[in-house]
Amino acid sequence: MQIETPRVFLPLLEPSRYKGAFGGRGSGKSHFFAELIVEWCLRHRGARIVCIREVQKSLKESAKRLIEDKINALGVAKHFDVLRDEIKTPGGGVILFQGMQDHTSETIKSLEGFHVAWGEEAQTLSSRSLEMLRPTIRAPGSELWFSWNPRNASDPVDALLRGPEPPPGALVVRANYSDNPWFPSELEGERAFDERTKPDRYAHIWLGEYEPVAIGAIWDRLVLHRNRRAEAPPIKRIVVSVDPAVSSEAGSDEHGIVVTGLGEDARGYVLEDASLKGTPSQWAHRVSVMVDKWQADAVVIERNQGGDMVRHTLESVRRDLRIIEVVATRGKHVRAEPISALYHLDRVSHVGTHARLEDQMCQMTASGFEGEGSPDRVDALVWGLTELFPKVIRGPEKTVKREIDIFQGEGSWMA
Ligand SMILES: Nc1ncnc2c1ncn2[C@@H]1O[C@H](COP(=O)(O)OP(=O)(O)OP(=O)(O)O)[C@@H](O)[C@H]1O
Ligand SMILES: [Mg+2]
Repeated sequence: MQIETPRVFLPLLEPSRYKGAFGGRGSGKSHFFAELIVEWCLRHRGARIVCIREVQKSLKESAKRLIEDKINALGVAKHFDVLRDEIKTPGGGVILFQGMQDHTSETIKSLEGFHVAWGEEAQTLSSRSLEMLRPTIRAPGSELWFSWNPRNASDPVDALLRGPEPPPGALVVRANYSDNPWFPSELEGERAFDERTKPDRYAHIWLGEYEPVAIGAIWDRLVLHRNRRAEAPPIKRIVVSVDPAVSSEAGSDEHGIVVTGLGEDARGYVLEDASLKGTPSQWAHRVSVMVDKWQADAVVIERNQGGDMVRHTLESVRRDLRIIEVVATRGKHVRAEPISALYHLDRVSHVGTHARLEDQMCQMTASGFEGEGSPDRVDALVWGLTELFPKVIRGPEKTVKREIDIFQGEGSWMA
């Protein structure tokens, strides 16, 4: 059997625990891994392989059809047995198609004897899914393969394989349409159209660049990375700040909960992003846990729409908290600007990476939030740092109070 492989993927033919191909649309990533699976099954009798996606509502969404086509195109159909929802491979092996969201830490154990897991469209894999999958695939010589179109540096698969510390020996290639010798003319038409009509998103869709940072964003990745710290220095004061979502129906906005501190060095430190979706009592409990964990001295909460509700919610969980209520009188992005100025003066550090918060920050522009939903995490962050840096936000006091001694006559002075 002969397989013709685009040069760009040749490095991935060596054995390695981790193999990744990222890039824009139509670069041949899916076809390459589908062929590699067929090849693996022919070389390793009894191969057990799982093709996973974060969400797989039906087999139609899986790579099953593509692998079937490859089996036929390569003329090896007699070695395989294609069943309704799986493919039997030579020597009693199997190829399965699964969604990570359907797995629990219990059910994932069924994959422990597997030799290859291929994560397709892996940019949507959650960190929970990656954490579950990695130690599960543990057969001798087993490999983890991923193909993805990067959205942000904080996509868990991107952080794993292209971050500062990829797993040792990981083989990762970047593939784009120009590397695909079979790039179809239909796709070329689509590409050329996007190049003309979507100049801002073209590089993301077709060249494998990250989603564009909003134009005019008041934070950028550079300022966040340049000040990042692995550990917090001695801290004088810590607050937990909260931007509660108005409605708590399932699927509604998140409650922004962020822990920030003022260092003894007079710099700001972002310690934890504990935002969550849930009921009011769930956010209140999370806040209470954060206060204890970080020994925070106050909780800063926004009270605009909810009136006293927000305070009551917190007090119904716990009465001994010092609550500082703040009222939003200006727009979110207006409140955020002085805080972004602090970052640009290198006066704020993130301790560790807070990926989802940072994604929101980089989509906050001088004229509003350009991301999806509402920037609850940024809001909570801004409230916390505003509390810790009151002078910076309000500006220096414009007057100075002086004590004046007044002469009362008879040789006496009033103090
Ligand atoms: N090995 C191959 N043999 C034949 N055709 C191929 C091969 N690789 C790629 N192609 C052609 O190129 C097209 C794009 O390839 P593929 O779907 O693998 O790209 P991709 O990188 O997975 O893109 P997307 O991000 O759109 O999923 C395919 O639809 C097919 O027409
Ligand atoms: Mg693909």
